[in-house]
Amino acid sequence: MQEVKYEDLEEMQRKVLDEAQKVMNTAYNPYSNFYVGAALLSQDGQIITGSNVENAAYGSAICAERAAILRANARGIRTFDKIAIIARGKDFDTTEVTAPCGSCRQMLYESAQISERNLQIIIATTKKDKVVVTTIGELLPLAFGPKDLGIDVKKFQ
Ligand code: THU
Repeated sequence: MQEVKYEDLEEMQRKVLDEAQKVMNTAYNPYSNFYVGAALLSQDGQIITGSNVENAAYGSAICAERAAILRANARGIRTFDKIAIIARGKDFDTTEVTAPCGSCRQMLYESAQISERNLQIIIATTKKDKVVVTTIGELLPLAFGPKDLGIDVKKFQ
């Protein structure tokens, strides 16, 4: 886990984070008023974004990270290199980076095993004055994934 300055990110890391920031504003969030944007970078260089979508049955909400994974899957994309995540409140900027929730970490771990890559995760505050670069391996150590069930990950790439 490394805290880095936005300006010191690689060009592609900045681009993915900027796309996450743009899509954040599309969140459907009448219950929390919390805006989250996520942008995946596929292994073939495409950026697929997602934002959180809430529901009157609160527990049915879908986080931005999982929304991005679902959008990518519908486009036939399952192998990724990295994901960026950023958030804001309706009336406030975050002062700490927004890290993926437990369910999203588990879904990202699935993607990481299918990708055969330790996915890079870039998380930032609203103003990008704090940026942390980490990996799914760091955020979800000793995880359970498709390989534990004998899945041939190459078949699903
Ligand atoms: N949320 C995300 O989309 N991603 C995260 O990493 C944290 C939480 C959403 C879910 C819900 O719509 C709102 O933020 C408040 O929990």
